[in-house]
Amino acid sequence: MSNQTLRFILLLLLSSSVFSWKKEEFRNCNQTPFCKRARSRTPGSCSLTATDVTISDGDLTANLIPKHTNESESESKPLILTLSVYQDGILRLKIDEQHSSKTRFQVPDVVVSHFQETKLYLQRLTNEDLNGPSSVVYLSDGYSAVIRHDPFELFIRNDNSGDRVISLNSHGLFDFEQLREKNEGENWEENFRTHTDKRPYGPQSISFDVSFYDADFVYGIPERATSLALKPTRGPNVDESEPYRLFNLDVFEYIHDSPFGLYGSIPFMLSHGKVRGTSGFFWLNAAEMQIDVLAPGWDAESGISLPSSQNRIDTMWMSEAGVVDAFFFVGPNPKDVLRQYVAVTGAPALPQMFAVAYHQCRWNYRDEEDVENVDAKFDEFDIPYDVLWLDIEHTDGKRYFTWDRVLFPNPEEMQRKLAGKGRHMVTIVDPHIKRDDNFHLHKEASEKGYYVKDSNGNDFDGWCWPGSSSYADTLNPEIRSWWADKFSYQSYVGSTPSLYIWNDMNEPSVFNGPEVTMPRDALHYGGVEHREVHNAYGYYFHMATAEGLLKRGEGKDRPFVLSRALFAGSQRYGAVWTGDNSADWDHLRVSVPMVLTLGLTGMSFSGADVGGFFGNPEPELLVRWYQLGAYYPFFRAHAHHDTKRREPWLFGERKTELIRDAIHVRYALLPYFYTLFREANITGAPVARPLWMEFPSDEATFSNDEAFMVGNSILVQGIYTERAKHASVYLPGKQSWYDLRTGTVYKGGVTHKLEVTEESIPAFQRGGTILTRKDRFRRSSTQMTNDPFTLVIALNSSQAAEGELYIDDGSSFGFLEGAFIHRRFIFANGKLTSVNLAPTSGGNVRHTSDVLIERIILLGHAPGSKNALIEPSNQNVDIELGPLWVQRAHSPAFMTIRKPNVRVAEDWTIKIL
Ligand SMILES: *[C@@H]1O[C@H](CO)[C@@H](O)[C@H](O)[C@H]1NC(C)=O
Ligand SMILES: *[C@@H]1O[C@H](CO)[C@@H](O)[C@H](O)[C@H]1NC(C)=O
Ligand SMILES: *[C@@H]1O[C@H](CO)[C@@H](O)[C@H](O)[C@H]1NC(C)=O
Repeated sequence: MSNQTLRFILLLLLSSSVFSWKKEEFRNCNQTPFCKRARSRTPGSCSLTATDVTISDGDLTANLIPKHTNESESESKPLILTLSVYQDGILRLKIDEQHSSKTRFQVPDVVVSHFQETKLYLQRLTNEDLNGPSSVVYLSDGYSAVIRHDPFELFIRNDNSGDRVISLNSHGLFDFEQLREKNEGENWEENFRTHTDKRPYGPQSISFDVSFYDADFVYGIPERATSLALKPTRGPNVDESEPYRLFNLDVFEYIHDSPFGLYGSIPFMLSHGKVRGTSGFFWLNAAEMQIDVLAPGWDAESGISLPSSQNRIDTMWMSEAGVVDAFFFVGPNPKDVLRQYVAVTGAPALPQMFAVAYHQCRWNYRDEEDVENVDAKFDEFDIPYDVLWLDIEHTDGKRYFTWDRVLFPNPEEMQRKLAGKGRHMVTIVDPHIKRDDNFHLHKEASEKGYYVKDSNGNDFDGWCWPGSSSYADTLNPEIRSWWADKFSYQSYVGSTPSLYIWNDMNEPSVFNGPEVTMPRDALHYGGVEHREVHNAYGYYFHMATAEGLLKRGEGKDRPFVLSRALFAGSQRYGAVWTGDNSADWDHLRVSVPMVLTLGLTGMSFSGADVGGFFGNPEPELLVRWYQLGAYYPFFRAHAHHDTKRREPWLFGERKTELIRDAIHVRYALLPYFYTLFREANITGAPVARPLWMEFPSDEATFSNDEAFMVGNSILVQGIYTERAKHASVYLPGKQSWYDLRTGTVYKGGVTHKLEVTEESIPAFQRGGTILTRKDRFRRSSTQMTNDPFTLVIALNSSQAAEGELYIDDGSSFGFLEGAFIHRRFIFANGKLTSVNLAPTSGGNVRHTSDVLIERIILLGHAPGSKNALIEPSNQNVDIELGPLWVQRAHSPAFMTIRKPNVRVAEDWTIKIL
């Protein structure tokens, strides 16, 4: 038995509560030579000069050569620079070395194929003198891209003001370690704890500085448990800290308020400021990355002077390998940057309706009887839910795609019973494959050579849940296709069409590997080293799984796959969650910036484990978590194996009622959430948004990460402390806000000190919006398909409001062929109008076209009106006073039109008389 194995077994023997996050298990920057080297560079040390700047094939190309060429140095080959311009203000910069012994890795299958079609063919290069000879090309209306030759610098300029937007290498920190021969006596190996990385190709890191101008804050670069606005990591008045790390890891019991990188990596940063608006920078690179956010004045002694009239945030980007393939986005509105980013990496998939509803998970629902009981209790307690999840224990010895036949003798029947109530099941499928010669998956994968190899070329063998395991090399499209086939009903015995999938541990997690992952010198398809592809490993695995669900259903139904690891582009393949959080108030609080940051970087479908994965939440915390989680884009309760059971009915009648209420709010708002998911699917705008995304010129919102917007209409403020009696809530903008439960009106632009009760967390509808709800509660979302809608019109000071509703069959791809209903409701001049936004009338969405609107509630309307006229039917209906929620008849009453009985899919108007 090796030392490592022994250590691993010891680790398992100790109870999980003994362990918490162990800093020394993970490398810090000082223990990471490329990071340490890059951090110690001084501004101005880059001596590259751009030469041979020209237009070639519609791109700007140049060579970057060291200024003081030293003939005796072998590493003075020029670097090749290519600058390309795409529609909508997107600039792409590539820098690579000339071919050497090994091709440097460029991340495939992230940039969507149709992006290339949006390239603008550059025709003209203008020469200007801007602090030295410079070449200028058109970027988009009002913006140019500028390359200064000596020293080399790239920036985007606003042509009207002359101001800079974003720049690279303005501080001369650009460094590109070219591949080279090993010098005599040189040792390239790196050691960390008991692990040796052979580093056969030697140093190959890249680092550079990026500056954002007129920026008040920077955001993005998930995934970590920290604030939304990224705090500086270096510079004056900053406690010297670690840079933000992007390296996908299975971090056991992560801590909040830490720059440490967790399960996923998206090297995309946004800046935002009152003057400039929003800009974005994305570096497509899947190797370990470290990013410093520099405090103002960090470069005081460098002697480098940049345009001084503009506020600036400087950042330093460092990666272990790969190439420079960077994208710059000019914004200038927050939603523009998201649209530009998803033009490159793809729009988020539109989930099925059931996936937007509530999910019940636990490690583990023991057996079929347990599943049946839990399912029955939801009905008994009148709590809707859509999906029941099974964790690793449902398998035969952690062999995925199998069932423990003692505990789950009839999996098909179990799934059919759930499906009978419109419910679904999710099972876990992880990337580690048990090395067991009797396991067909292992046999096939090893025979076909489909595993990732170790540095000696043998199948990589690491420890994970099943013990000795190997990992399918899903970087290879052929292997992805093979993996996808494993989800067919014939191959995945016991699966049915209502079964969907969860990918965990895909960082990948390797219990006995360096930092609990795969060694960097492991080898992938095409001779790619693991260090080059590490952060995207989970992405390719997620992609292969989603392809599997597509294939099994012959492309009819939209896949649902939840993944823990993520990379730029993961939004195309499904949902993600924030991993193994803990049942404490700090983790409840940090879940909000985590989810918002994911949304800002394209991952609109995310959530945190409701209740906290590790530990036992106090009932009060659990209730608060449900109340907040009901507004996460992905709403799932989950719990660790060693925790006490915590299904919603286990904490007494009152708590059950409160949790039911929270879940009901989510079900009522499903039509609104689904409309937002479609908006994300088209524009990239996230479902959960930082306040500044909706109020970009309100500085008071820029670093607020305790409250957030759901779409443009709902503001939610979490309650993050025990026994809270009051909450301070800032309501931005000039319009009024209406309490979502009581309809009470509040002034905008003010911080309100509000009383809070256990009944709910503060949530508000923005004046000037129209919300669509479904108020009849069923067992699952599927059973609500034909239920009528309620419209809640929240008027602003001009007695006007607007809202949208998107409906399709909730499951198929028919919407891509126009099978959907998309309406805009406009209230103005005392008249509500429904107009069509879909290219067709939407009549081809079966079932739903006949669905009615059963109730219209007017908030903020002047009293006195007694009836309304409906056109074109020419019907008169009464206006009554009614509650905002039918279940809460004792609440204050508002002007209500009951049973206008207009069809949701048709054009009509309702005039208040
Ligand atoms: C050229 O590089 C070599 C090796 O790094 C060094 O010894 C020498 O001093 C350098 N010469 C000049 C002119 O910089
Ligand atoms: C929207 O989602 C669907 C289904 O996931 C996907 O096929 C499509 O590419 C997405 N984007 C757009 C613009 O429809
Ligand atoms: C009121 O809302 C409507 C619809 O959203 C909007 O067009 C109008 O500008 C708003 N008026 C004010 C004063 O905010």
